[in-house]
Amino acid sequence: MTDDVAARATAAFRSAYGGPPAGRWAAPGRANLIGEHTDYNDGFVLPFALPLRTVVAAAPQPGDTWTVCSELTGDTVTFGADDVAEAGRVAGWGAYVAGVAWALREAGHAVPGARLAVASDVPLGAGLSSSAALEAAVLAALVDLGGLDLPAERRPRLAQRAENDYVGAPTGIMDQSAVIRCRAGHALFLDCRDESVEQVPFDLDAAGLAVLVVDSRAPHRHADGEYAARRASCERAAGLLGIAALRDVPADGLADALARLDEDETRRRVRHVVTENQRVLDTVALLRAGRVREIGPLLTASHASMRDDFEITVPEIDTAVEAALAAGALGARMTGGGFGGCVLALVDAERGDAVADAVTAAYAERGFAAPGHVTVLPGPGATRLD
Ligand code: GLA
Repeated sequence: MTDDVAARATAAFRSAYGGPPAGRWAAPGRANLIGEHTDYNDGFVLPFALPLRTVVAAAPQPGDTWTVCSELTGDTVTFGADDVAEAGRVAGWGAYVAGVAWALREAGHAVPGARLAVASDVPLGAGLSSSAALEAAVLAALVDLGGLDLPAERRPRLAQRAENDYVGAPTGIMDQSAVIRCRAGHALFLDCRDESVEQVPFDLDAAGLAVLVVDSRAPHRHADGEYAARRASCERAAGLLGIAALRDVPADGLADALARLDEDETRRRVRHVVTENQRVLDTVALLRAGRVREIGPLLTASHASMRDDFEITVPEIDTAVEAALAAGALGARMTGGGFGGCVLALVDAERGDAVADAVTAAYAERGFAAPGHVTVLPGPGATRLD
């Protein structure tokens, strides 16, 4: 996969600029094993990197000019010093690239002019962080081309600024952290308050397991507005409780916190976040102990919480989860921001196809457009290829 996409990035670079790139940088998409809508509540997440990647082929270009072509869209975006001096001046997919240059500049770095070509296997708009993959690959390329000093642990915040402040999406720190800091064979246990991480063994292969990722293909229904609304209601609840963030409600303090809130919807939002943080901790404890087969019920409980308390699932997603479980998945849940996107199911490796077929059949029965699927093992984070 990666070889193909890397070769495609080089081919796109050569055809756009008539010569070879100076190097190629890759960053993966991510799936979140568990810990949804906890990142902007200063909580815990446990994502892993997918074997699907975005590759950027790049070379320096004199002056403050950036040219980016995309193999996917077939178009080329050019921007200059003014566009990286002020947030929001570039729109569309080019904003993720310009946003990275802007965020680097805001952080005091001299950003080198560059020519870039992008190719990707990460499906767009499927909730697998294609935007973070693009940001991370572009960031790695610009850092190396400019000889900038920016250690890996500081890169996620910078890429997040590109997305929050340049593109204008109020997302948390999970996606950029995942695509930059994940390691093959591991899930990344991230404390979103202090950004400390632990690489937790997630060796599915050794356990005879795999993760089936089902692309629900559900049309995104008001995802941006609903995401912002969930975030706002969590922040409002933290304010009412007099705490910095919902992270500060421990699992055994949940009943007390709920008793202090007078509205049912807010109570359910808070209950999701608090119980989800605990499920992340419980999942990490099982993985540390090598008990990966036993995490299934936590995944399924996370889904129920997203469906009933946080109310971010849609019928296609719930159908995929139910069908996967009925076909023998050890656990299944929606992954990512919600209102569409993907479901992940933990399956015995040899059952992957059968579970995928069961989901496809359940979709057909309900008259939904056919889902996509891919079976994955946790791959590496962002890296320079050559
Ligand atoms: C999106 C956001 C993340 C996170 C998830 C939900 O993927 O980009 O920051 O909030 O939704 O867990």
